Amino acid sequence: MCGIVAYLGNKEAYPIIIEGLRRLEYRGYDSAGVSLLNGEILTFKKKGKVQELVDYADASEKSLDGTLGIGHTRWATHGKPNDENAHPHVSGNGRLSLVHNGIIENYDTIKKALVELGHSFQSDTDTEVLVHLIEELQNRDNLDLEEAVRQALTKVVGAYAIVVFDKDDPDKLVGARKSSPLVLGINDGEYFLASDASPIIKYTNKVVYLDDEEIVTVKRDGNYVIKNIENEILNHDIKELDLKLEEIEKAGYDHYMLKEIYQQPVTISDSMKGRLNVEEGWAVLGGMQQHLKRMVNSKKITLLACGTSWHAALIGEYLIEELARIPTEVEYASEFRYRNPIINEDDLIVAISQSGETADTLAALKMAKEKGSLLYGIVNVVGSSIARITDSGSYTHAGPEIGVASTKAFTSQVTVLTLMALYLGHERGTISASYYNQLLNELADIPTKVARILELNEKIKFIAGEIRNAHNALYLGRGYNFPIALEGALKLKEISYIHAEGYPAAEMKHGPIALIDMYMPVIVIANNLSSYEKIVSNIQEVKARKGIVIAIVSEGDTAITEIADFTIEIPETSDPLTPLLSVIPLQLLAYHIAVMRGCNVDQPRNLAKSVTVE
Ligand code: G6P
Repeated sequence: MCGIVAYLGNKEAYPIIIEGLRRLEYRGYDSAGVSLLNGEILTFKKKGKVQELVDYADASEKSLDGTLGIGHTRWATHGKPNDENAHPHVSGNGRLSLVHNGIIENYDTIKKALVELGHSFQSDTDTEVLVHLIEELQNRDNLDLEEAVRQALTKVVGAYAIVVFDKDDPDKLVGARKSSPLVLGINDGEYFLASDASPIIKYTNKVVYLDDEEIVTVKRDGNYVIKNIENEILNHDIKELDLKLEEIEKAGYDHYMLKEIYQQPVTISDSMKGRLNVEEGWAVLGGMQQHLKRMVNSKKITLLACGTSWHAALIGEYLIEELARIPTEVEYASEFRYRNPIINEDDLIVAISQSGETADTLAALKMAKEKGSLLYGIVNVVGSSIARITDSGSYTHAGPEIGVASTKAFTSQVTVLTLMALYLGHERGTISASYYNQLLNELADIPTKVARILELNEKIKFIAGEIRNAHNALYLGRGYNFPIALEGALKLKEISYIHAEGYPAAEMKHGPIALIDMYMPVIVIANNLSSYEKIVSNIQEVKARKGIVIAIVSEGDTAITEIADFTIEIPETSDPLTPLLSVIPLQLLAYHIAVMRGCNVDQPRNLAKSVTVE
């Protein structure tokens, strides 16, 4: 949520910052801005996408020179998206320029105090308050920039990743973080600070991940210093990034989302690598081995997540309860953290997160940590906050996911949860040897089956054309495919803006059936065999009310094919693995409908990929 990039070195900062902002645009895209230092501070801020900022800066015909600069792409929290509220924000005396990702919760109190001291503000943002506070402390006690930043941060409540510079101290950048990510990139004679490594990777693979309440100062031709908020110097290891530039580019696809849908045969396979061996008959997660006894003997498992990751968690609950027989609950992290839940020392808390930075999930984990539970992370972004706060975990290895609507991260989360359930079930003796081996074999075949589903793209595109003008859509599934109904509906609404709801198929008659008429597409996920007859009856109920039925069925199906308007036949697999297949056509269906409706698939309105505010 909001992307930050900053540069100090021997190259022109502007092109590096603009390119970095484009890479970070997935984090928010309602306005963008840049400040460059070349004797004076030159700031451009514009409502809209990074391209609008570039057009605006070009049209100004001002020199964009300078080897120090900071940039920001915004997802509005305080103050509507407009030019004034865009970052960077400059201090009242014009000396400091600052970008911020997060929320300063006590900004109002600080603002009132600053107004009494004579400060006046140009924007409605909490960020402008912070830069004025730094200015105030700097002037009052004649502090250097890093000390003024440190003292200011001791006075704020909330979340922040910031980068700030001072035109009177022109060879220095100061960055700090708490609950929002900030990475330092280190190259010969140059430094980068960014919300993630994507703006940095082109130049260097040497990075340092800052921890909460840490402040970094980088100096031209000098070293960098990291201190904690108590002013103690810290030594962090420099990490080598394992990220390649090609991984964050579109590779010829029209959209990142389409690329990521098509990557799934590989990404699902990557999330199983070294964790599944069919010949030797085992499924293991390395992260679980260190805590195996405790995990196997957990009295209760709580799965915490938000958004699409929450849907993966719901499948995780079905898997763990069926295969490992441990009572499992799925919680929206935002609810869990505020509802005084019962958490015991012998509970296992599993957080599922693509970004590893979701503020609610992170806060819920911190709460569980205080109660002494074991924390396990299923996270995609290496080195992210959730990966670091958990006691152990498994990376999903899906690679960078840039489309705001999650696709490949979801299937790799479900893959890891399947491995976890199999491992727990095997260790606890709650799964028969034959079923265990059957599932191992079928899991190994999933990537090939996903590739076969992707070959149905043209057919799915045709169906998309038939329902593209719908105002509403209903997704129905039972058992393992109920979470897929939720996920299918979420994909459609978030990228095409068609109102869609996911329901357990049997619940339809308790409400949504009232909405069904000849204009309502009903997408029925019916490739799980255990509830087949029941779902056939549900389809009859929809047809009796003239709804348009689009059914996802297993290859060779006859009963549903006869009554549905459209069927998408996908390879068969055992019930617990069906979500990994049935979600694929739903991702493609949402994608094509959104493209046909002229929507911005990769950057849907009002959304952001990494939600680092509550
Ligand atoms: C945002 C994204 C979703 C994602 C959710 C949780 O809403 O747009 O795609 O599922 O956050 O994010 P996480 O990174 O924790 O999986």
